[in-house]
Amino acid sequence: MAILEVLHIPDNRLRKKAIPISDIDDSVRELASNMLETMYAENGIGLAATQVNVQKRLVVIDLSTENTDAKVLVNPEILSFSGSEEMQEGCLSVPDVFDTVIRSEIITVRFQNLDGETIEETVDGLYAVCIQHEIDHLNGKLFIDYLSPLKRNRIFKKFEKLEKFQTRDS
Ligand code: NI
Repeated sequence: MAILEVLHIPDNRLRKKAIPISDIDDSVRELASNMLETMYAENGIGLAATQVNVQKRLVVIDLSTENTDAKVLVNPEILSFSGSEEMQEGCLSVPDVFDTVIRSEIITVRFQNLDGETIEETVDGLYAVCIQHEIDHLNGKLFIDYLSPLKRNRIFKKFEKLEKFQTRDS
């Protein structure tokens, strides 16, 4: 296993749209296990392949406190949405920024697991919010896109400054 580099804003590669995975082979299983290790190392609860610069529709999630409930979703798609829920969100691609986003409360999601089986689940709460957040990544969308333009610009400016600082130092 290996820890992968997680892209941070303002990196435009976070805006790329991921393509469906047609063949769940060893390379996909290896990517999933590297993504889980990366997510655990960064204390995240979800990670999309887009965030590690791989344009494939693959998401990993683990909501447990002991990192014992790894979920791998290949080609996830939401079949139905209902209700709405406000939750504080953060993102490994936007470190140390947290803000409230309104999303659907209950979703039915269809995906494949690493054995290639198709699974359909109706979920709610944090898991539902997390799936919506990660699928957004696969479509090049970030949670800060839901914030007001003023807030979003302020966040982008902060990270642009940080990026200049890091480039200068390296
Ligand atoms: Ni994220």
